[in-house]
Amino acid sequence: MWQLASNNLNFERLLLEESLFSIGNGYIGTRGCFEEAPELMKNTIRGSYINGYYDRVPILYGESAYGFPTVQDKLPRIMDTQTSMVFLDGEQVVIDASKMKNYFRVLHLKKGLCERRYTYITNSGKEARLIFRRLASFAVNNILCYEVDVEYDGEIEIISLLDSDVSNHSDESDPRVATGHEKLLTLKKLHLKDEIAFCDMEASFAKIPLLCGTKYKLESKVDIEGTLEHCIQDQKISTTAKGRKHLTLQKMCIFVDGIRSKDIYNDVIDIYSRYDRYSFDDFVRLQEEYLSSFWENSDIEIYGSEKVQEAIRFQLFHLLQSVGKDKISNISAKGLTGEGYEGHYFWDTEIYVLPLFQMTQPEFAKQLLLYRFNILPQAKERARQMGHKRGAAYPWRTISGIECSSYFPAGTAQYHINADIAYSFIQFYLYHRDKAFMLESAAEVIFETARIWLEIGHWHKGEYHIDNVTGPDEYTAIVNNNFYTNVMAKYHMYWASRLYSELMDYDQNGFEKLCQRINLDADEINEMKQASEAMFLPYDKELGINEQDDSFLSKELWDFENTTEDKYPLLLHFHPLTIYRYQVLKQADTVLAHFLLEEYSDLETVKKSFDYYEKLTTHDSSLSSCIYGIMASRCGYHDKAYDYFMESVRMDLDDTHGNTKDGLHMANLAGSCLSIINGFAGYRIKENGISIAPTVPKQFEGYRFRIHYLGSWLEIKVQKYIQVKLLCGNSVNITIYDHDYIVNDIIEVERK
Ligand code: BGC
Repeated sequence: MWQLASNNLNFERLLLEESLFSIGNGYIGTRGCFEEAPELMKNTIRGSYINGYYDRVPILYGESAYGFPTVQDKLPRIMDTQTSMVFLDGEQVVIDASKMKNYFRVLHLKKGLCERRYTYITNSGKEARLIFRRLASFAVNNILCYEVDVEYDGEIEIISLLDSDVSNHSDESDPRVATGHEKLLTLKKLHLKDEIAFCDMEASFAKIPLLCGTKYKLESKVDIEGTLEHCIQDQKISTTAKGRKHLTLQKMCIFVDGIRSKDIYNDVIDIYSRYDRYSFDDFVRLQEEYLSSFWENSDIEIYGSEKVQEAIRFQLFHLLQSVGKDKISNISAKGLTGEGYEGHYFWDTEIYVLPLFQMTQPEFAKQLLLYRFNILPQAKERARQMGHKRGAAYPWRTISGIECSSYFPAGTAQYHINADIAYSFIQFYLYHRDKAFMLESAAEVIFETARIWLEIGHWHKGEYHIDNVTGPDEYTAIVNNNFYTNVMAKYHMYWASRLYSELMDYDQNGFEKLCQRINLDADEINEMKQASEAMFLPYDKELGINEQDDSFLSKELWDFENTTEDKYPLLLHFHPLTIYRYQVLKQADTVLAHFLLEEYSDLETVKKSFDYYEKLTTHDSSLSSCIYGIMASRCGYHDKAYDYFMESVRMDLDDTHGNTKDGLHMANLAGSCLSIINGFAGYRIKENGISIAPTVPKQFEGYRFRIHYLGSWLEIKVQKYIQVKLLCGNSVNITIYDHDYIVNDIIEVERK
């Protein structure tokens, strides 16, 4: 169960499989397109991407208004290195199922590579064996390697390209996909030096350089020497390899971008000089080493369901492949697997992806948080543009840090992203109690983001209100007192005031310097404390639920009965205003707040709210079903919890949202892992420690995962018994079904 395999060459699934079989290392990602078939290019999304690298294009509005962003970042499709066409006695290998036998493609989750193989039958009936392998190196992020291996009793020719003729995919009919500005990179120069083919490009508007150097190695496994020739033509460098019987072409591509490097040319050369000797198999060895340590702590083992196991490991692997680990990049909604949402980073990171990495890969979590710290200046600048005198307003969607949302009702109005980011920093604090980190970076983000609540909120009859915001549910926009936003802001300001005193006690001198720099004093903190304490949290007495916002329950109910299947997702079939007029949800909103901050509502309210909102939720957003699953477990609705989990865990593999071709849904990938840990196992981390309350769905036998807490590692195994084992570090206190335990070595508790 350490692979994703497909032995079916189905043309209808080509685009989908390009996403599923993507490879990446968090810096570079490449979709699973066919090396030998550039002619398929028109029908597929033949993309490779660099995390954090962007072009910046003007936003053209029909009607603009004050404060609208005028430019936006886009993730460009970079030079294409995928093509290697194969010729057998002069006949080109084409993708034709009738000429291909034993087709097989596999993504190896322990070897970190993708492999495709088949037997090809030529027009004259001769057979050839072809194997294509590719990997994005985890050891050296700049490197992408390919290998084409052909065995054929005759002449073999491989023409491999470094192609600068690339444009992004666009789709006018789907707002989740980009429109306009398809040509984002401009070719500066193609040249050859010391057997390295260089393709020098630049982001057309942002003028950020990007260099790819490609070098080939040829192995002819029979006596006859192979030959290699290069040629620069049009916008490509083509390299022709010739041999007989058995030819293996290895292609090493090195990418260096102008965001991370001051001298892209020298950096490419330098990386070559260090790795020139490495063969494809040497890189595979490095992948295996890296992945063995990744899986050790990150694996979630499932007992009794191969189908679930396959899906969970696939998800963890793709998260690893897409997540930025260098504080310059983050993880976009589709990771590095496609162009959906233009490669933007959203709150998806803090509320879905980060909670998983906080538990299993603390260093990744830190890097993601530092990315937010790095873009704090842009968030402050955005707050000024929005007319706020103080504080920082994080962009709803971005790459470089600027607000890139051109539709403010479902974009900039989602101020909750400020609290989501702060929540994540606070979680990090709960995991590590690392006051030095808080002082260096986290505190400033937490204070600056908290200031926004004082800017956009106001006092009303002794309560604190926040008006004109949009909560997570994008089918309800610009409302007053969105429960999610208010409760998150309440928690956020509570922590801001708490950290103020904790950090003062920790390092008065250092903390006073920070306060001076950002002009923060006890009066302002007191304002936050009071606003937090008096925060209005909508509650409807009659229904016994937290109302999503002030006006939600007074709206008409959406007519679900007469909405046929083909009208979903609603966003593609109804004007936003139509949707906004009804009680209908795109995704978990209040239910999500109840998950993140269950301490602010009692269980009865949580259950009643779940029952109420569930009926109104379309789950048109991929961020929804995992949260409903987690909360179904919390409410004791075990069958439902399993159904939601299955919906979430198979979403991309079965393409249930119909748009996996535009990239995998990163938040959901993490969300279904959380469905096991936070859902079935009931794991929580709070101020007073960690707790679990495990259940096991009857469809499988149990599960196992690890968490990192206060410097110690725990392994939690749930079957008939719950076993908690201390793997290393100091003893850990844990609550299991409301009983407190100290784990020094191993404890076993009967499962309820
Ligand atoms: C969801 C947002 C999410 C975005 C990117 C939208 O459909 O409504 O909550 O951030 O997708 O995943």
